[in-house]
Amino acid sequence: MSSAATLLTATIIVTYITSTSGDENEYRLVRDLMGSYDPRPRPVVHHSQALNVTFSVALAQIIDVDERNQIITTNCWLNQNWLDYKLVWDPRKFGNITNIRLPYDEVWKPDILLYNNADVSSSLSAVSTNVIVTNGGNVTWLSMWIFKSSCSIDVKYFPFDVQNCSLDFASWTYESFEVNLVKNADTGDTSNYVDSSEWELLNFQQKRQLVEFSCCPDNPYVFINYFIVIKRRPLFYIFNMMMPCVLITLVALLGFYMPSDSGEKISMGITTLLSMTVFLMIVAESMPPTSDVVPLIGMYYGITIAIVSSATGMTVLTLNIHHKGTRGHGVPPLLKRICFGVFAKFLFIKLDLPEPPEHGLHRIPQTETHRFDTDILTRNGGISPRFARKIRPLGGSPCSDNAEQQFTKLLQKVQQTIERNEFRLAEQDRRDHVKKEWQQLALVLDRLLLLCFLIVTVSITLSLMVPPDHSNG
Ligand SMILES: *[C@@H]1O[C@H](CO)[C@@H](O)[C@H](O)[C@H]1NC(C)=O
Ligand SMILES: *[C@@H]1O[C@H](CO)[C@@H](O)[C@H](O)[C@H]1NC(C)=O
Ligand SMILES: *[C@@H]1O[C@H](CO)[C@@H](O)[C@H](O)[C@H]1NC(C)=O
Ligand SMILES: *[C@@H]1O[C@H](CO)[C@@H](O)[C@H](O)[C@H]1NC(C)=O
Repeated sequence: MSSAATLLTATIIVTYITSTSGDENEYRLVRDLMGSYDPRPRPVVHHSQALNVTFSVALAQIIDVDERNQIITTNCWLNQNWLDYKLVWDPRKFGNITNIRLPYDEVWKPDILLYNNADVSSSLSAVSTNVIVTNGGNVTWLSMWIFKSSCSIDVKYFPFDVQNCSLDFASWTYESFEVNLVKNADTGDTSNYVDSSEWELLNFQQKRQLVEFSCCPDNPYVFINYFIVIKRRPLFYIFNMMMPCVLITLVALLGFYMPSDSGEKISMGITTLLSMTVFLMIVAESMPPTSDVVPLIGMYYGITIAIVSSATGMTVLTLNIHHKGTRGHGVPPLLKRICFGVFAKFLFIKLDLPEPPEHGLHRIPQTETHRFDTDILTRNGGISPRFARKIRPLGGSPCSDNAEQQFTKLLQKVQQTIERNEFRLAEQDRRDHVKKEWQQLALVLDRLLLLCFLIVTVSITLSLMVPPDHSNG
């Protein structure tokens, strides 16, 4: 190889190096910093020193609250900050570079984990790229996590419930004298929070505390707890679960207003009961299967089902009363006085009671029956013309004992027939009257029950629908 060619090659190489090196300060800096760097040891000058790690969480979104499995899914941005004495440089020596980005797995990092994690695959749902290092050794590690954390969800006041879910962060292995977690504020960062349509974020606070575990009683761990306090927006549940329930109950109560003769009163009650049960099943599906407390809405459904059942039972009672008159016993006077005198007036019911009928034969003195009086014929003009024709020739005949006797007998027979007829009619009247009385009694009771059940339903609905006071927990 000639010397000229060697010179040319050298020139090309030198030109290449100088043209591609550009600002090689960062290469130099990284090589210098990482050359002897080992990401495994804790970066403290003396091992008895604690390393302060400033830890903060920014809540970005509440993705899901799973009442059944008691899991809350959140999107959180973690910000961890510490001083690494090995990552210090003089910017003047490196072209005034004051900060660089290093791959996050090449520097030491605290092993801070979510203790109430409820998802084994959570390590896969984290996004972290680089750490930011300043020339003073200040390392900032920003990462984004989808946390699935366990949260004991209290459904007592569902759908007017407020949940207090915690995110408990601590180092898994470093004790408090090795890694000291420091919080930077009392409240978490919600500046990037995306509002949820189902939950309203009331509060996002943080608390630092020392916790001792049974494994190592003398070595406490530093915990930073974040409390996410959220309140459910109840409109969906009011509109889709409570309103149908209220309407169904009101329809069920209208059964009291239905005429007893329609024969549909009971089937209406049963139908409404069935539809309530279907709704109750929908509610039960979205609840955790807990036996500790009955949620408010479950309680409401339970009470409503009890109301509708007892209303249906009461309908049986009033139907029975409605048809009681066919047995012929009159309404007991006391009941009559209370129902017709007090309740009917109180409920503004216009009673449709006929005057009690004359008690027919019982009022006619017995002596009168034996009186021989033709007036009775005209008074009770119920004799057939054929019969009248039969009488007239007899009356007009000359005096004859036999004929008179016969005539008297005949007249007595006629009178008996008439009296029997009259008695039957009076009895019929009386029965009709009794029947009518019982029917009116049933009507009054129906209205009274309608009013009572309406009051009970409305007051229970209002007392349960007015959101409870959460100020004392
Ligand atoms: C760590 O923080 C504590 C206060 O929380 C402070 O007293 C201590 O000096 C800090 N240590 C270092 C090395 O900065
Ligand atoms: C670095 O900054 C100093 C003072 O700010 C300046 O004098 C110097 O020229 C800068 N060096 C480079 C390489 O920019
Ligand atoms: C490190 O940098 C962050 C953000 O720039 C700052 O808030 C923090 O106080 C710094 N930490 C130290 C120990 O200087
Ligand atoms: C949430 O629960 C924690 C611990 O149980 C408690 O310290 C905090 O005050 C609660 N927050 C609210 C708003 O109730």
